[in-house]
Amino acid sequence: MHTKSIISFTLVALAQQALARPHCKSPANGKAIYMISNEQKNAVLALPIGKNGLFTPGTATLTETGGAGMSGVDGDAGKPAGPDALFSQSSVTIAGNNLFAVNPGSNTVSMFAISRQDPTKLTLVGKPVAVPAEFPVTVAASEQNKLVCVGSSGAVAGVSCSKFSAQGIEEMDDLRVFDIGQTTPPVGPKGTVSHVFFSEDESTVFTTVKGDPAKNKTGFLAAFPVGPSDCDSGASVSQDGMRSTPAGTVVLFGSSTIPGSDNLFVTDASFGGAVLTNGERSDEAASKAFSVKAKSAVDGQSATCWVAISPATKTAFVTDVGVNRLVEMSLEDASIKKVIDLSANGDPGLIDLRAAGHLVYALSPGNGTTPPAVTVVSAVTKKQVQHLQLEGINFGKNAQGMALLM
Ligand SMILES: *[C@@H]1O[C@H](CO)[C@@H](O)[C@H](O)[C@H]1NC(C)=O
Ligand SMILES: *[C@@H]1O[C@H](CO)[C@@H](O)[C@H](O)[C@H]1NC(C)=O
Repeated sequence: MHTKSIISFTLVALAQQALARPHCKSPANGKAIYMISNEQKNAVLALPIGKNGLFTPGTATLTETGGAGMSGVDGDAGKPAGPDALFSQSSVTIAGNNLFAVNPGSNTVSMFAISRQDPTKLTLVGKPVAVPAEFPVTVAASEQNKLVCVGSSGAVAGVSCSKFSAQGIEEMDDLRVFDIGQTTPPVGPKGTVSHVFFSEDESTVFTTVKGDPAKNKTGFLAAFPVGPSDCDSGASVSQDGMRSTPAGTVVLFGSSTIPGSDNLFVTDASFGGAVLTNGERSDEAASKAFSVKAKSAVDGQSATCWVAISPATKTAFVTDVGVNRLVEMSLEDASIKKVIDLSANGDPGLIDLRAAGHLVYALSPGNGTTPPAVTVVSAVTKKQVQHLQLEGINFGKNAQGMALLM
């Protein structure tokens, strides 16, 4: 009997191990998330993520960027915009152990070193570096190429890039100008720069720009190739890019590369989300033009603008500043897989978001009345697992961006 019970116990243990194996391979949790306050004295808010993927209340730290925040003008209301003060995705980003944040009110970009011991400990590297444009709203960085690129949405708009090293960011290069006819601060969200991001292999810098049909401004996706790296001067980003205006898109907003594919998942504030492809054209000249592979309207949206892809479900999660929910969409055909209603937590809507492990982290800056919060949702169970309100700090409806440290 005794032996038998040991054997059956062993069998049960093996069976459990077998069942648990996919779990062992499940993607790792992040270590911390970062957002900018975009207040007059701009600062980065760091929130450490525990081993279980959740936040511990009271552990947030604010670190000044040395630059200033500024809000765009809400074109409908005719007053400072917020939440979504910058009309952008990714106003803060990470490459390796460095964090980069834009300063929309002082036309600079700041670089920090993230402490390896404590991810909430940020040390400014050098001084904030001037961007040759106005109202910088989005930043991308490539660890492989040691390049940082900033997109600006003001009266002088476009993309400028630079090299970075442990000593900081070098002088930014000449602006790749976008003729969006804006002011500083810009009147949006239509007709502004949305999101700068690198391709998965870090060989291309993409930028989405929103159209404004009432002003005859056509939105586009710009693609600038990264030049070869040579030992003396390193990689640089080409001044000449390629623009696509995929038929069926109007107000291109936050985007994401799709892991293991050259396709992109884009949000479009005018209808929902789309998968873009550049693989279905054979002629050389057109081979880099993107077209819509599939798209879906998100019913009941106010504006679908931000996206993150979950490594656990290999699906896109999109947010809307005016509707408090996550909408899960397919990376193949942009079909809607799930609508996760979060209205019970009282937030007005969600903006920037990131995914790691089986969790999705989404920022609600609040609206001046409701406090800011980060909502954590399981991509697998489609349930809210934490709602962390951020009160008593200088961080509120102007806040924007989210970067995640792995
Ligand atoms: C946009 O273009 C149309 C057709 O060319 C023209 O009639 C209209 O006045 C233009 N609108 C603006 C705001 O420039
Ligand atoms: C802020 O959001 C809450 C929750 O959606 C809403 O009840 C309130 O009216 C909003 N306040 C403002 C100033 O928009």
